[in-house]
Amino acid sequence: MQHNITKTMPQTTPQVTLFSGENIPLEMHKVRMVQRINLLPVQERLAAMQAAGGNTFLLRNRDVYLDMLTDSGVNAMSEAQYAAMMMADDSYAGSETFYRLQAALQDFFGTEFFLPAHQGRACENILATAFVWPGSTTVMNYHFTTTKAHITRLGGSVVEVVKDEGMQTVSDDPFKGNFDLDKLAATVEAAGADNIAFVRIEAGTNLIGGQPVSLANMRAVSAFCREKGLLLVLDASLLADNLYFIKTREAECANRPLADIVKEMAALADITYFSARKLGCARGGGICTNRKDLYSKMRDLVPLFEGFLTYGGMSVREMEAMAVGIKETLDIHVISQTPQFVEALGSELMQAGVPVVTPFGGLGCHLDASRFVPHIPQEQYPAAALAAAVFIVSGIRGMERGTMSEQRNPDGSEHLAEMELVRLAVPKRVFTLSQMKFAADRVAWLHENAELIGGMEFEDEPPTLRFFLGRLRPIGDWQERLVQKFLEDMPSGL
Ligand code: F0G
Repeated sequence: MQHNITKTMPQTTPQVTLFSGENIPLEMHKVRMVQRINLLPVQERLAAMQAAGGNTFLLRNRDVYLDMLTDSGVNAMSEAQYAAMMMADDSYAGSETFYRLQAALQDFFGTEFFLPAHQGRACENILATAFVWPGSTTVMNYHFTTTKAHITRLGGSVVEVVKDEGMQTVSDDPFKGNFDLDKLAATVEAAGADNIAFVRIEAGTNLIGGQPVSLANMRAVSAFCREKGLLLVLDASLLADNLYFIKTREAECANRPLADIVKEMAALADITYFSARKLGCARGGGICTNRKDLYSKMRDLVPLFEGFLTYGGMSVREMEAMAVGIKETLDIHVISQTPQFVEALGSELMQAGVPVVTPFGGLGCHLDASRFVPHIPQEQYPAAALAAAVFIVSGIRGMERGTMSEQRNPDGSEHLAEMELVRLAVPKRVFTLSQMKFAADRVAWLHENAELIGGMEFEDEPPTLRFFLGRLRPIGDWQERLVQKFLEDMPSGL
């Protein structure tokens, strides 16, 4: 199927200024299929949150008004993606769908070899199994939960070398995801190049607020790795947002075609992997490389963990949607929608005095729980408490990205997160501006009443990735008191 969207679409951002002077992100799509959602009254939201053990991951979708947990696998797909799904070639081996997807990825990243996997963490499992050994060190700007879990599961350790600004929730640095090159050099020197499994660049650094990495910084990291003979891996899961920020914040890229920028990013790394639940607005994942030796080292792990080499655990329909979605990533209207909605939501929150991570990044708007609820000690999971409170007062499901998302230290002690964030994710093309206004309004109300929010404690704590399935209970009756105050101000309970 020929899809020439990048040739026909303008390469400008669709932000318009209204006659009133207000800037709004104008949607360059129309909604032709809708899903009914519910806004439960506050008492029912409290009951749902308590039934979910205070963990937004454990809520049922029918109880959620705006699902802002993640943008993973929940981005709106285009009509071209749905159309492509009807044309999938179902077969265990040698499916034409695989070859169409492989060609799309070759064209997108400029890489020759492609290994399919069922999602991003499956790629991480393959990478870690192939390249991490006990006692080895993996260096990265910042970890992602599943990446770190796979590396440490195999006896490796993770060292983060993001620049200091990355850890400051308030900043005007446009590329807070950048590597600190001195820290990178010092880490490699201290560990010894032979003990480094690989260096990993996470584009659009997830856990520090969807903050981008500049192309200039990627070039410097790549040059360093080549000089030292280190393997460089690019996690391109959040590439779409990162690409938008490179295009709009990095002067030399303002007039460069998006396709060129992507190819350069991939060429700087030895291996590029991604979650297609994010990149390409589909589902699935993949590993791409130009190096036959690296491909061969990973190849046999795909049939072992994922499925045969021509589907890798994905349905052929997902693969067709991915092939089209990857190409649509080169449409500036597609990649600007999330960052511009994040900015619209974040600006309203900031005007209301709500502490948010700045500059606004991709993925979602990040509330800074350390400043929102400074009275809650980190041992009582302030970000988890805030995420529960946000749901109770709005029906909006966000995600805890703080101490609850960390793993305990090997001695069992708590590993306090460097940041306590609640992420309100903005999946692509899913929400409207009035829904963002509602979100901003209810969070602003909560901020005015923040002293009512109390801490949480574990009732059931799984040993790995505890944030997914762990159950918490509120310390004291603060949730009931919050509901009481909400009803005084909002008698409808909505
Ligand atoms: N890398 C990054 C940067 C991610 O954000 C994710 C997933 C993964 C890898 C793993 O991919 O979910 O397909 O297995 N992030 C999701 C999120 C879960 O909600 O931010 P996956």
